[in-house]
Amino acid sequence: MIKIDVKAGAASKQRHDAVVLPLLEGRKLTESGRELQQATGNVLPDFLRKFDISGAFGKARTLYGLKDVHAHRVMLIGAGDERKLTLHGLRRLAAMAARKLDKGGARDVSFYLPELNARGASLADRVQAVAEGVWLGLYAFDKYQTEKKENKRALRSVTIMISSRRDWERAESALASARAISAGTNFARDLANEPGNICTPEFLGEQAAALRHSMLDVTVMNKAAIEKAGLTALLAVNQGSAREPRFIVLEYQGGKKGAAPVALVGKGLTFDAGGISIKPAAQMDEMKFDMCGSAAVLGIFKAAIEMDLPVNLLGVIASTENLPGSAAYKPGDIVTTYKGLTIEVQNTDAEGRIILSDALAYAAERKPAEIIDFATLTGACVIALGSQATGLLGTGEKVKKGLKRSGDHTHDRVWELPLFEEYQDQIKSKIADIRNIGGREAGTITAACFLSRFVDDIPWAHLDIAGTAWNMKGTDISPVGATGAGVRLMVDYLRRKGD
Ligand code: BES
Ligand code: MN
Ligand code: ZN
Repeated sequence: MIKIDVKAGAASKQRHDAVVLPLLEGRKLTESGRELQQATGNVLPDFLRKFDISGAFGKARTLYGLKDVHAHRVMLIGAGDERKLTLHGLRRLAAMAARKLDKGGARDVSFYLPELNARGASLADRVQAVAEGVWLGLYAFDKYQTEKKENKRALRSVTIMISSRRDWERAESALASARAISAGTNFARDLANEPGNICTPEFLGEQAAALRHSMLDVTVMNKAAIEKAGLTALLAVNQGSAREPRFIVLEYQGGKKGAAPVALVGKGLTFDAGGISIKPAAQMDEMKFDMCGSAAVLGIFKAAIEMDLPVNLLGVIASTENLPGSAAYKPGDIVTTYKGLTIEVQNTDAEGRIILSDALAYAAERKPAEIIDFATLTGACVIALGSQATGLLGTGEKVKKGLKRSGDHTHDRVWELPLFEEYQDQIKSKIADIRNIGGREAGTITAACFLSRFVDDIPWAHLDIAGTAWNMKGTDISPVGATGAGVRLMVDYLRRKGD
């Protein structure tokens, strides 16, 4: 990630390749723009009109070689109507500006974006959003493109400009938060963007182990240890794969000694071909992203360490491939889980809930204060909510409320679906305790019903990130591929807990 710092100072005086100034709808300049305007002897209004620069959100124009301005270029970026501007709008503007400048060959630049009033957000929030926009927006996964880049004049540093030196400390600490959150998010993206032949369960275990820290213990179980522990549902899904599974336990001690942790559980299917109930070929490649839940959990732990979050966390990740090997589990099989409940397997492609049954039961056994799981669980969730919101279901009313609040604040949004008792009927089995599919209707809900059987009475929230974890069109703050969904959400949630 590139260097970002914060500073106060006049726009006309910055000796940078570029200064980025916001322009509001109606060609309205902000504080920094007015200063620059004065320094240039009022040439700006003329420029704005001539070049048809309106201030519409996201539309940017660059002016070169303005007299009496030290920077080589001035980028005016449209911020739209200030009354409608949100924190996420700021994040997007920062990402768009950073990407344009990076492509355009600018190296060191200053951003006057925090002076925009995003719906009354605090300065700290604004600086954090701008920094996240830069770091998340510049993310690229190009390590396998060996013939590109070289000698590229990439963006090297961004200075986030604040209006008053008195705000410096607050801004600096917001920047540190943004750094940890962005690093956690980009780490989750990196893991998930790796192809399935590299990012295997073993690889995930190694990546988790590499996070070890004075505040973080990591245990990685191999197949023998998993057998010994009796994590039989995970083993059933693993049967069709030549690669060993992994079961990863992370224990972060940032809070009071002995205080019950928040448990974070992740689905880590490093490739989901569907097993014997094999998926169609189209877009099957995207099923390398079926470990995004586990990537989010690891990203959250990375951020927690860097931010010194004052909470205790328990992480539990179940990881395997789901392939149709000759020893694969089959439709009709009955699987006995770690908890003892039996599952009638009617579709081997509904494997996420099966491995999560062991991960959730294992987490519940540790008596955490609450359990939150992250899983690319159902195609039905993509149909219901698309890529704009993560599905939220569960029994922990307070947890869900907190997640909604953090989702809105971070724009890593969630939307609740009901978990009415009546839906449980859909997963009744005639031959075992439950079956692993619930019919055509309410697929996301019946998957959550299944999970609910394994969390005892611990307050629990399930996040179905099937639609949000990756994006094949790309967004303003994420290129095509993994988005790191869940990291911003969860870090914000945990920070509010610490307060
Ligand atoms: N990993 C998939 C869910 C998925 C599908 C996520 C498409 C994102 C995009 C999961 O393991 C799965 O295959 N679920 C099945 C369940 C069905 C067989 C009840 C599904 O959603 O089709
Ligand atoms: Mn599947
Ligand atoms: Zn899956």
